[in-house]
Amino acid sequence: MSRMVIPGTTPTDEKLFNPPEELQKDAHIPDFESYLRLYKKSIEEPEEFWKEVAEDFFWKSPPKGEFLKYNFDVTKGNVNVKFMAGAKTNICYNILDRNVNEKNRGEKVAYYWEGNSPSHSCSITYNQLLKQVCKFANVLKNMGVKKGDRVAIYLPMIPELVYSMLACARVGAVHSTVFAGFSSESLCERILDSQCSFLITADGVYRGDKLINLKQISDEALEKCIEKENFVIKNCIIVRHIGEQKNNANVYNSFQTPWNADTNVWWDDVMKNSSEECEPEWVDAEDPLFILYTSGSTGKPKGVLHTVAGYLLYTALTFKYVFDYHPDDVYWCTADIGWITGHSYITYGPLANGATSVLFEGVPVYPHVGRFWEIIEKYSVSKFYTAPTAIRLLMKYGQEPVKKFNLGSLKILGTVGEPINPEAWLWYYNVVGEKRCPVLDTFWQTETGGHVITPLPAATPLKPGSATFPFFGVLPSILNEHGEELEGEAEGYLVFKQPWPAIMRTVYGNHERFENTYFKKFPGYYVTGDGCRRDKDGYYWITGRIDDMLNVSGHLLSTAEVESALTEHPVVAEAAVVSRPHAVKGECLYCFVTLKNGREFSHSLAEELKKQVREKIGPIATPDFIQNAPALPKTRSGKIMRRVLRQIARSEKDLGDLSTLADPKVVEVLFSQRWEATA
Ligand code: WTA
Repeated sequence: MSRMVIPGTTPTDEKLFNPPEELQKDAHIPDFESYLRLYKKSIEEPEEFWKEVAEDFFWKSPPKGEFLKYNFDVTKGNVNVKFMAGAKTNICYNILDRNVNEKNRGEKVAYYWEGNSPSHSCSITYNQLLKQVCKFANVLKNMGVKKGDRVAIYLPMIPELVYSMLACARVGAVHSTVFAGFSSESLCERILDSQCSFLITADGVYRGDKLINLKQISDEALEKCIEKENFVIKNCIIVRHIGEQKNNANVYNSFQTPWNADTNVWWDDVMKNSSEECEPEWVDAEDPLFILYTSGSTGKPKGVLHTVAGYLLYTALTFKYVFDYHPDDVYWCTADIGWITGHSYITYGPLANGATSVLFEGVPVYPHVGRFWEIIEKYSVSKFYTAPTAIRLLMKYGQEPVKKFNLGSLKILGTVGEPINPEAWLWYYNVVGEKRCPVLDTFWQTETGGHVITPLPAATPLKPGSATFPFFGVLPSILNEHGEELEGEAEGYLVFKQPWPAIMRTVYGNHERFENTYFKKFPGYYVTGDGCRRDKDGYYWITGRIDDMLNVSGHLLSTAEVESALTEHPVVAEAAVVSRPHAVKGECLYCFVTLKNGREFSHSLAEELKKQVREKIGPIATPDFIQNAPALPKTRSGKIMRRVLRQIARSEKDLGDLSTLADPKVVEVLFSQRWEATA
């Protein structure tokens, strides 16, 4: 099988890092035996296991019929998963009203909001959060938002983002949050795909010292919706975020965009007289909760759909056990809510547990490279969750910025998004955690809804670079090319054999694509698209994507979507995109472009192409390298040999077997021009 080798995922040594005894004293899962016992139960008696978890939550009425029903085998009919179908509930009620009314947590802080600028911050209690959410839920209702309607949210990391998501959940609407770093094109595509009739955005946001005009980008997206499909949004609600901060009228005015009185309303205007009481809409356990888009190998993003009850149970339980959550914790996840990590582990999981979290708007290196450590000290953060790319970025500045701050409150460190190389793992462990805090490498996907392979802090002896063992209810397997399950030490395709509550239910509007993407290759299994190795001790090591997906700074991109952004340029005839290892981003984009006859490659063209990709997709997709390719290496049947391109991008001299190439000379030319690539 072709596997993308991520350097550094091979263990440097087999030294185990045992859980600290201090943590084991009052941990939920205090040792490995407890993990194994509970794991066995979760696999053998999933219904009993999840029924107990469900007892802690509120159900307006119980499930009807089977508690868990599913089919993973496409050859036996439609793939489907149903947890607690027929039960009536509301997730917003469970994570807010239940905390306030039943658990006496009204005065507890739900979020410490920390702005991009260190001078902006506030705290929000559960009482306040509930009131704001109810007010906004009433706003949505008054605008005509009904159960099942899709609402697009394009907001920075401000409290209104959480209010918006939860207000949708309260009225039974389906939120589709689009990361506020995406381009207008990407926003338009997502609005159209799920036919969102409402959009919530902000005037703008500062990211570091850069001002981003979100309203303008939103307007462009809405214009494109009209141009492409004559689709007109009903209402666009705009949070006054920059306008509120900037007394400087010049800055603010220069940045305003035309106002469309037919559809535009300011958030604060519509909130002013809205009632703080809002009866939740009681929805079915299997009703949709949200759509979140993720890259697809065809280039068109997939709308991953999650449903109410399973997602609630799973994010609540993973949050509780993986971060060993205790009521006095202050938890901070640095992800953006525009991605699944923020949905599950800033919004739903922590709130379901009544936790106190930090909600951070800014970036790790603004106004200084110690910002993360400063915030940890400021709020006495005890559980900290970030991405390998952020660790690698901050590692570059050495220990000094870390040591300036007191990180004594930290107990547990986590990472997510991509394989973590042992060097970064050890720096995180030694320098940030001062050898006191376990580092949890959590593997999961937008599609899995929550952690699926992960250590538990007081139970799992750690190996740097390994995501270790499956979470409760998750049954992994490793398959070879022929779909045969491999036992013991093995390497192959990572798949799951049975559902856990938060597995995605469908691709919005395209169930066939859901089945084709995840269940066709090996009938009977959910196929992750990741490669995986199991070592002699049974530890799982994720080796990276084995499909046409790239992971840049923890963000998945498909080669096809970048290639199509490149070929939209009038001089480009063909493009092929591969990954190249990058010290901070993990992987970066290396693009080969074949120009149309008579066109000349130049440095300025390369810059133009980079800009084109940035504008089509967003800054996260900006290529690092563009190389002129007079021709691309293809097989006789016309397939681009990406393996060869990857090797050229990595300047690997030994290109292996090239006998299937239609014209081997192509490779020589590309290799000789390798150093002319424009970085
Ligand atoms: C990768 C992010 C190795 C993997 C939650 C997966 C990881 C994809 C890890 C999902 C990890 C995520 N170790 N690889 N701990 N976590 N990945 O949908 O390739 O944005 O399939 O979800 O990220 O990315 P997504």
